[in-house]
Amino acid sequence: MLNNKNILLCVTGGIAVYKAVALVSKLSQAGANVKVVMTDSAKEFVQPLSFQVMSRNDVYFDTFDEKDSRVIAHIDLADWADLVVVAPATANVIGKLANGIADDMVTTILLATEADVWIAPAMNVHMYAHPAVVRNIAQLHEDGYRFIEPSEGFLACGYVGKGRLEEPERITALIGQHFSKTAEQPLKGKKVVITAGPTRERIDPVRYVSNFSSGKMGYAMAAAAQQLGADAVLISGPVDLPVPSGVQVIYVESAAQMYDAVLNEYDDASIVVKSAAVADYRPKLIYDQKMKKKAGDDVLELERTTDILKSLGDRKQQQLLIGFAAETTDVITYGKKKLESKNLDYIIVNDVTDPGGGFGSDTNVVTLLSREGEATPFNAMAKDQLAICLFETIIQQESDKLHDR
Ligand code: PMT
Repeated sequence: MLNNKNILLCVTGGIAVYKAVALVSKLSQAGANVKVVMTDSAKEFVQPLSFQVMSRNDVYFDTFDEKDSRVIAHIDLADWADLVVVAPATANVIGKLANGIADDMVTTILLATEADVWIAPAMNVHMYAHPAVVRNIAQLHEDGYRFIEPSEGFLACGYVGKGRLEEPERITALIGQHFSKTAEQPLKGKKVVITAGPTRERIDPVRYVSNFSSGKMGYAMAAAAQQLGADAVLISGPVDLPVPSGVQVIYVESAAQMYDAVLNEYDDASIVVKSAAVADYRPKLIYDQKMKKKAGDDVLELERTTDILKSLGDRKQQQLLIGFAAETTDVITYGKKKLESKNLDYIIVNDVTDPGGGFGSDTNVVTLLSREGEATPFNAMAKDQLAICLFETIIQQESDKLHDR
């Protein structure tokens, strides 16, 4: 999959630099041409010679060291790359990139390249959670950069938590998947509608009924659809997430608004993915003014919202209809029931009490159930990676039928 792909690995200074040497080895074994650029801090951890030996290429670190007088090194490397990977990425390089600072070989290349750039952070758990780092990462997401989330575990600084550089084998596998799918663009020309986030059902001007959905799973599905070539339309409840680049977004608040928006986009859609956690009930009465508290208890009368997915199932034509099921017990049994009763093609079931997934988490653990009775389980993985794997599996299972949709 990586045969003759040009991967430019930017190595910045943290203890995880030693893992970057293994990453070069894995990428080279997979057939990629790898060139390495290092910051001065990275060189404090591992000598450039290690990378030179593993990549069989010169290692670059000095913007003013022009090894070949016919070209300008940082521009030449930026143009050479099919993919740029920053691993490990420190808080420092993330901050510089988010703010357009280019003061060394790595950062000048990052601004000069037109290739996709993937960032694999590695740092102390508290640094990763620092508001400035969180803000910079959000900015880079918005600018279209893709992140390989750090994993959780024992960190070199002695803390246990999120901040470990993802394993070289996993990064290599993700890069391989990227080239296989983005090159094929199997959803090119297909309109894919994805819903995400919670709905809010108003009680009065200051209160509402809702749930814990963050929108992360649905936004990841939208980003994955777009990466696979689709015209992705994201219908989003109220969440606090950047819109994936290239994705069209329609914001809604209530289940009724989501129903209208989805129906509006339905007729010419090839695939619909309902990741949203739609409220099943809404207050029967919406008060125009803030409800005054009374002495003693009160009762809020609720009525059912329309089941959007069931309505889509009832009027299904060419659309491939994919639902999610959020369950807390007997997930497969309940998932199968929803698959049938809503006339779906696939349902993705998750146990929302699982510590590796569910509401708000960056990862999820799911099983994909098909109408034909196939069950495909997926281990805990980052929601953006999972979204790609889910689409890939569905595309594979649909294979020759997809072009008729
Ligand atoms: O957003 P995150 O924090 O990342 O969390 C992800 C998630 C847990 C919300 C997601 O993985 C998930 O499970 N989404 C579906 C949540 C849900 O509403 O499940 P359900 O089992 O109640 O509904 C089944 C299906 O019917 C869903 O596709 C839902 O969108 C749809 N539905 C439900 C009720 C309704 N009135 N209309 C609907 O369309």
